[in-house]
Amino acid sequence: MLNRIKGKLQRERFRSKNRKYFDIYEKYSEFTMMSAENYVLNLKIVERFREVKGCVVECGVWRGGVSAGMADILGSDRNYFLFDSFEGLPPAQEIDGASALEYQRNTDSPYYFDNCKAEKEWAEKAMKKSAARKFTAVQGWFNETVPGYNFNEPIAILRLDGDWYDSTMVCLEHLYPLVVKGGLIVIDDYYMWDGCARAVHEYLGKQQSSDRIQEAYSTGCYIIKS
Ligand SMILES: C[S@@+](CC[C@H](N)C(=O)[O-])C[C@H]1O[C@@H](n2cnc3c(N)ncnc32)[C@H](O)[C@@H]1O
Repeated sequence: MLNRIKGKLQRERFRSKNRKYFDIYEKYSEFTMMSAENYVLNLKIVERFREVKGCVVECGVWRGGVSAGMADILGSDRNYFLFDSFEGLPPAQEIDGASALEYQRNTDSPYYFDNCKAEKEWAEKAMKKSAARKFTAVQGWFNETVPGYNFNEPIAILRLDGDWYDSTMVCLEHLYPLVVKGGLIVIDDYYMWDGCARAVHEYLGKQQSSDRIQEAYSTGCYIIKS
């Protein structure tokens, strides 16, 4: 009982200390599947990189609520790129782990979200509500849209939320090198899905990178590009 009251008080304290970010969460709550707390923590990390010049790229946007919130924090003077199939997730593979395979079998779960499918119009609507004036929603499978995409400028902030090994790996291989030194990479599913963690380890290992992986929030990590 006492622990429950303590937990509630802690949540209320966190909320009142972070009012500005919670207001942004509430503005976009129907456009994101992140928890309020993780959404707020993601925005707070992103805000630390406000001075880094370059565009903002999110791969795996669902209804666009995270990109829209980031635009409210980072301002209208940037280009925002939103990559998604807008057809949901591809089938999980063995490398993604048992819980990923189970997630896609369990279509009645309240967390199934129609296999993360959302029409592109949702993401466009979220971005139109945001501070962003220049945004591009790129529809298609990452392996067809991401390689060779011409952003015409470095990436300041790269956010990967494609869940699976293949989806994460193709984005790391083609976009990590485009992130400016001192820029931010957030990987939303690092603690959530085995395949995502494997892709991150494998990619950094192959590059012999010494970039550090840091905890962002309960499911996600971040890396500062060196
Ligand atoms: C968990 S959802 C993203 C959630 C969103 N960022 C949010 O916080 O609300 C994962 C998204 O990644 C997309 N996705 C995953 N793998 C993909 C791939 N290989 N190509 C294109 N889209 C992909 C899915 O369509 C889905 O919209």
